[in-house]
Amino acid sequence: MEKQTIISGFQQVDSSEYEYLIQFLENVAAYPIVKESLELQIKLLNLKPGEHVLDVGCGIGIQALEMAKQVNPTGKVTGTDISSVMIEFAKSKASDSDLPLDFFVAEADTQPFPDQTFDAVRTERVLMYIKDTQKVLKEFKRLLKPGGRLVIFDLHWDGTLLSHKDKALTRRIIHYVTDHLPNGNVGTDIYFHLKNNGFKNVEVKPYAYFGNDEILLKIVEKAYIGILQKGISDGVFTETEINNWWKSLYEDVEAGTFYISFPGLIGYGTND
Ligand SMILES: C[S@@+](CC[C@H](N)C(=O)[O-])C[C@H]1O[C@@H](n2cnc3c(N)ncnc32)[C@H](O)[C@@H]1O
Repeated sequence: MEKQTIISGFQQVDSSEYEYLIQFLENVAAYPIVKESLELQIKLLNLKPGEHVLDVGCGIGIQALEMAKQVNPTGKVTGTDISSVMIEFAKSKASDSDLPLDFFVAEADTQPFPDQTFDAVRTERVLMYIKDTQKVLKEFKRLLKPGGRLVIFDLHWDGTLLSHKDKALTRRIIHYVTDHLPNGNVGTDIYFHLKNNGFKNVEVKPYAYFGNDEILLKIVEKAYIGILQKGISDGVFTETEINNWWKSLYEDVEAGTFYISFPGLIGYGTND
């Protein structure tokens, strides 16, 4: 199995070191600011018992499970993901609960459901892995009932704010990571895509994931490490440069001066 990074790994989970990716999703979902973002998204979705919700690129189903609590007992949350490993994991997690959930393998832009099936559609940190956002948004519109609500969370990786002594290298690293995602700055275009696809009541709120502790630095390391290894093999960075870069960040954690923020955006629109 190929050694993967979260960048290439989430585009092809099934042929990657998926245990690493599953662990990564669990770590991210447990981080307090990420949990808060989910609460805000659920509030925006304004879910009611009896409604049918679709979570696209649902990963291991953590957020689908939270949403199912809102639509329980007469509604349902359906999660879809391109990865059958993710879907099997989500199914087994869901089987431990009595909540109304089902899961299917599907491409974000080709969902196996009839027109106007869902009261609400949600997707988080998925569009960054897909080049053709337009096709996905069109699919969301097709799937929503009239008046249905859409919530999208995604990032603008180029805008990552990371306090580091070596500012020039940090800038190169942030750009390098962004450039290796199919759509690393898609967060910036969420407003455009919602408007361009005829969604109404469109709102896009900045919502940064940020923190200053070692837990977050370890998540960042998991996210970056594989891609920076590629950068070293491609001769873009030297090993010493990268090792010193991490060392400095861990020293900042020790000194209590580490700080990072990932600019995320939460988009909302209705299918009126
Ligand atoms: C970073 S994970 C996010 C998972 C989940 N939304 C969360 O917030 O924990 C990205 C997910 O998108 C899925 N994915 C990537 N490309 C996809 C595509 N073209 N269609 C559907 N899912 C896709 C991956 O398999 C992975 O589960």
